[in-house]
Order: sequence, then structure tokens, then C-alpha cells
Amino acid sequence: MSAPAKKQRRSQEWFGKKDRDGFVHRSWIKNQGYPDDLFDGRPIIGICNTWSELTPCNGHFRELAEFVKRGVYEAGGFPLEFPVMSLGETQLRPTAMLFRNLASMDVEESIRGNPIDGVVLLMGCDKTTPSLLMGAASVGLPTIGLSGGAMLNGKFRGQDVGSGTGVWMMSEAVRAGQMTMDEFVASESCMHRSSGVCMTMGTASTMASMVEALGMSLPENAAIPAVDARRKRLAQLTGRRIVEMVNEDLTIDKVLTREAFENAIRVNAAIGGSTNAVIHLIALAGRIGVELSLDDWDHLGRDLPCLLNLQPSGKYLMEDFYYAGGLPAIIREISHLLHNEAKTVNGRSIVENSQAAACYNRDVIHAYDAPFKDSAGIAVLRGNLAENGAIVKPSAATPALMKHRGRAVVFETIEDFHEKIDDESLDIDENCIMVLKNCGPKGYPGMAEVGNMPLPPKVLRKGITDMVRISDARMSGTAYGTIVLHVSPEAAAGGVLALVENGDMIELDVAARRLHLDVSDEELARRRQFWQAPESPARGWYKLYVDHVLQADKGADLDFLVGASGSVVKRESH
Ligand code: FES
Repeated sequence: MSAPAKKQRRSQEWFGKKDRDGFVHRSWIKNQGYPDDLFDGRPIIGICNTWSELTPCNGHFRELAEFVKRGVYEAGGFPLEFPVMSLGETQLRPTAMLFRNLASMDVEESIRGNPIDGVVLLMGCDKTTPSLLMGAASVGLPTIGLSGGAMLNGKFRGQDVGSGTGVWMMSEAVRAGQMTMDEFVASESCMHRSSGVCMTMGTASTMASMVEALGMSLPENAAIPAVDARRKRLAQLTGRRIVEMVNEDLTIDKVLTREAFENAIRVNAAIGGSTNAVIHLIALAGRIGVELSLDDWDHLGRDLPCLLNLQPSGKYLMEDFYYAGGLPAIIREISHLLHNEAKTVNGRSIVENSQAAACYNRDVIHAYDAPFKDSAGIAVLRGNLAENGAIVKPSAATPALMKHRGRAVVFETIEDFHEKIDDESLDIDENCIMVLKNCGPKGYPGMAEVGNMPLPPKVLRKGITDMVRISDARMSGTAYGTIVLHVSPEAAAGGVLALVENGDMIELDVAARRLHLDVSDEELARRRQFWQAPESPARGWYKLYVDHVLQADKGADLDFLVGASGSVVKRESH
């Protein structure tokens, strides 16, 4: 029997041709000074870079890419770096989330259309992680992730201050008259003082943890600080490993299995991760063909405790997390609950990768049998106010408010909220439930992080720091409170949320997973007659997005982007 024919590398369909087309593909690339032998059939590794000065959290990525290249060359590959749309959470209007799917299309087509055998994804600021994973998943090449790492701890007047969480706390202190505006402004340059992403367990660090828990990166990816030399070392090792993955044909679908997603959901509970992970992982699963629902988040994370004492659920910051042992120490604590058959990019499971992990600070990383908080995970609520579900993060909520009946104070839009919230005549007290509409995927558009509505000053002055808030929005992963998010269907899609009026009574019961608007069906039907769907935007990306975006419980991907198209492009470019 003859040996099976060796699979030709994908990149050789461009560079291996001894004809006019091959000339064009090689010759123009050689203008950058590459010698002939780099086109000899060795793995071509694309480095998908989200560097941008307008995405400050990824501002160090050009340097990081150089370390990836070192590793690729060492292992016998040929690295070619390319830029993709970069989404800066703090700058982009109306919200970076509006462009997650657009960036994923850029990533998908950039990978598919180019002579690449394997790809390294450089990810940092919130949406730059899911957009790259989603795009790469729809192509299906060997893929490895590398996160940029978090900033050093913020330091202000002798205290640690955390990204986002510190901003929300201090701005509330200003509104309550406990801090001056000058003091608040003075903290700006103290909070963010190094390269990297937000150093709380916000969305960026949650998603970096998800990358590691899904098995899409080498161990320790989640928590090494951005400026720590060990982040560069990880970059170099990542470069070496992707070349091996190409040689092994270890494609992304072999890593992103149902078991990998289940592991990630459990890890998210144990770290008290951001609610945004729910939406991003459901969208990613849709791309790779794994069935994953909102209810999976509830039942898989339900019995897990939160082990990590990090802001916004706790006290410490990402730098402390790394020094305490990082994500492998968490994984080791819950390894009995994880799938060992889910293989990561290094060919071993996250359980095997974490066997020797140690914890060096039990106040930061708690043991499974002596957790930081008993209730973790994501609770999925249902009822007439959220027929397709809504979520709440118990570890960031106030226990006394987890069962609450209150009078609705309704804001039709976020502008309506801003106009009214500081008005002393607003009829509201701490027992009311704040309801915000029209901030979902279609309504904002883009599902903004505005669900953590600041409290009215007259409530804050009583020393009260939390109230029940309900919306179809998301909230920053750095935020906290008894905040019900992602109500689906959203108001702009005609959900019952659109029909809530001031004075209606709402019942929240997290233990029973219930969210109920205490208004009769007849009355809701009457109100619906007067409801009008908002008009679709006139043109451009906004129109494509609003016309095709799925609801939050389906991951807010575009309907026509779900699934994959593979890596084959048959037609030549010239
Ligand atoms: Fe970029 Fe938080 S704003 S990670």
C-alpha cells in the first residue's frame, strides 16, 4: 500500500505556483525583504493584530507581535502580521458592541482571503476578543489566542483603584457630595498608568480568562500583566506553538467543542466573570456549530461558588490575581467539575495544564470548600417581562434585593434617564425598580453598557448604594449591583419591556428565576395597540446591523453570520 499523499499547505495554493499567479503572490511580498526560501512550503502564520492608538488597551500590540514572530521563526514558520478593525471600548460611539460583528467579518475575510496556514489572534480590549474568535471560527484554520494582559494596579493616594469599578464608585461619591470633582479628575492619570486592559475582572479580563478556559491559548494567558516580561515570553511560546499546530492540523473546531464551552462557563462562575461573556460565548458557539443556550449558563454555573476576590465582585485587581497563582490556580480548585477530554491548543486539557498550579494568596484565590462567595454564575430569569430570558449576576448583586417587589420608574431611553435622574422632584425611592428601555441590540443600536444606571442623588444621600435596575442593555464587566440585563425580546423588538409604565409593579425573584410584570394580559394587549416599532436606519452598517441582529439570548450575532464558510476560496485574484 502506498503512503497517503501529504496534504499540501493552504498557503502553497498562492506561493507554490510556478506560473504568473505565483509570481504575483511572491514577488510583491518580497518587496518587504523576504528571501526566497520563506516561500518553500513552510507554515505561513498570520498574526491578526488589533493594535490601534484609539484602542489604548491594545496600544502595546505591535511590540507583542514581534515576540510572536520570534517564536514563529524559531519553529520554522514564516510570520506575516496584518491589521483588522480594532474596537476601543472607551472611545467608540455609540458603543463598541455595535461593531463586534463587523470586526468579526473583517477578521473572517482577512484570514480566508490570504495565504495563511495558521493564525495567532492578538486580543485585548473587550470586543477585540470575541470579534477575533468569531471571525476565526467561521474559517476553521489552526488558531491560537494571545491576550495582551491587564494594566498594573491603579494607585491613587495610597489606595488601589480599579478600572471602571473605581470610576463608578468615585462618580457616585461625587454625586453624593462625598468627593470633590477636582479630586475625581486628579485620579485619572493614577488609575491607568501602564499598557494593558482594565485591571478589574471586567469584560476584557473575563474574556482573556475565557480564551484560556476554552483552551484557545497557552496556560497563564489570562492574568500575566501586560508589562510583565512573562507576557512577552508567552507571546514567543505562542508563536512556536502555532507552527506545531499547523503541522499537527490542530484546527480551531477541535478545540472549541461543547465540552470546552462547558468548562469556560464553569470557570466564568468561579472567577465572578462579566455578564458580557454570556453574549460573546453564545455568539462564538453559533459560529463553530456548538449548541449553547442561555439556560446552559444557568444550570452549568448554578452550583458553583465564586473563588476570586477581585473587583467588581470583590477587592483585589488582576495583578494580585496573577501573583496569587492566576487562572491555573482557579482551574485546579474546580478541576473535579471540568471536562478532562477537552483538549487545548497545546494538546492537553486545562485540567492537565493546571495540575501543578499553586495558590500563593488565599485571600485572593479562595479554596473551593471555603469560597469567597457562595452564589456565583449567571442566573437566567424568565417571566412575562423577559419571555426569552434576562440575566443577573448574583455575585455582584445585593443579597437582600434578590427577592424584591417594587414600583417601576420608567426611562424610555438613556437620554430620558440622564434628563430625569438628578431631578429632586423625580418620584423615586430605594424600593422602586428602575426600568430602562430601548438600549438593546436594535434599540440603541448595539446594546450599550448602560444597564448599570447610577442611582438618584436623593437615594445616594441616604447611604444606599444599590437598587434593582432592569433593562435590555448590557453593563460593563466592571460594574456591580442588582442589575437585570439583556432582557429579551428587547423593547425595540416589541418585547413586553416596551409596555412597562410608571407605577407598574414588578417582581424579581432570583432564586425562583422569575421576572414578572404585574399587569394583566388584557391591559398589556391594550397598551400594545399604541406601541410603534422604531424605524430602521436609512443606510450603511447601522441598517445592516439593525435589520439582521439577533436578540441577546442568541448572542446578538447577525443572522447571516451564524455558522462557518471554511477556508477555501477557489477563484484567483487576477
Ligand atoms: Fe479596554 Fe477596559 S476599556 S479593556
